[in-house]
Amino acid sequence: MPYVEGNHVPPTEDLSVQPIRSFEEFRDAVAAYRLPRILIAALELDLFTAMGGRGWTIPTLAKRVRASRRGLDILCRNLASVGLLRKQGVTYRNGPLGLGELNAHSPAYRGAYLNLLKDHWADWSQLTEHVRSGKPLEDDKPDDAAYRKAFTWAMHHRSMDIAPRVAAQVGLEGAKTFLDLGGGPGTYALAFLAKHPRLQATVADRAPALEVAREIAETHPAGKRLSYVAVDFVKRPIPGRYDVIWYSNVLHIYSPAENQRVFHRAAAALNPGGRLLIQDAFLQDVDGLHPQEANLFAVTMLLFTRRGNTYTVRETEAWLRRAGFGRVKPVTLRAGTGDWDGGILEASLPSARPGSRARRGRSARNSPAR
Ligand SMILES: C[S@@+](CC[C@H](N)C(=O)[O-])C[C@H]1O[C@@H](n2cnc3c(N)ncnc32)[C@H](O)[C@@H]1O
Repeated sequence: MPYVEGNHVPPTEDLSVQPIRSFEEFRDAVAAYRLPRILIAALELDLFTAMGGRGWTIPTLAKRVRASRRGLDILCRNLASVGLLRKQGVTYRNGPLGLGELNAHSPAYRGAYLNLLKDHWADWSQLTEHVRSGKPLEDDKPDDAAYRKAFTWAMHHRSMDIAPRVAAQVGLEGAKTFLDLGGGPGTYALAFLAKHPRLQATVADRAPALEVAREIAETHPAGKRLSYVAVDFVKRPIPGRYDVIWYSNVLHIYSPAENQRVFHRAAAALNPGGRLLIQDAFLQDVDGLHPQEANLFAVTMLLFTRRGNTYTVRETEAWLRRAGFGRVKPVTLRAGTGDWDGGILEASLPSARPGSRARRGRSARNSPAR
């Protein structure tokens, strides 16, 4: 569903939506919790790790994972029916995902992200209460080091495949310096560094997140070109000057006022002609109804943040213009290859004119938004 600059007509068809028009469709939409809960039960039993590379009958597997034969028989049949397990006679084996991303013994394991998904079940079960209160599950603990590190690993496991695909399609023409603002594990910064051998990148985040970023960068061929800045960019200015700032999956954490403050700070940290690239779950139509995924994600923000939400392209564009960005346009990726559908906006500052940098720097520094 591409966003067209200056044309904010709602899409006529959102292919991601299953419309609910009849009672049967309503029933099926509600009952859709069943398969997700089956998958979570398998993760909670650590079934894929336990199964490893060999075949299992239900009685031996039941002993191994300490479950009832009856329960495991029904669970495994369901997992086999969606292709996660292979069934031959009375023997079950892992499919490719069970041997890889879902298996703690595999280097491809995405455990930190799987844990986050698993925990969301209980969190989402409390939704009604949070719709009533408008408040998140518990007080945000963004600065708690253990929480921050686990979350940062989860973000790495979430985006390790997506980031190189996105970096391959987002042009950084002429950029020498790149800031991954709220970059967490630095997965995106590393993907852009790998794509651009002359680029120098910095990841800015909270200190515990940067510890994870360092650990990941040490194992990455481009990791030596990554630097680290510990900063709370909602409370303080962004240190340094950059040609490009990449702001991925942070916009939705904050309120409109906080986002505008960050945009002003980003403008002040960019060189003339610099670009702010924002990746987020943007709502594409003015009514904020599409894509569905962006609205579902707003619920996650209701549960986990004090003021977060998902935002329309149009309102984000207005905040960017207020912060001094002259040109705002969507970056279109091949369908299905990005983090979100229609999920990247590029905002550019005016290019340098003699004396203009000093003026911009002064006015940005004097801006009340800082
Ligand atoms: C949802 S994660 C996104 C990580 C990464 N950019 C990505 O797209 O995968 C949000 C990140 O922004 C960081 N963050 C949010 N608010 C921040 C703030 N005020 N100052 C510094 N870092 C912040 C968090 O610590 C976290 O690492």
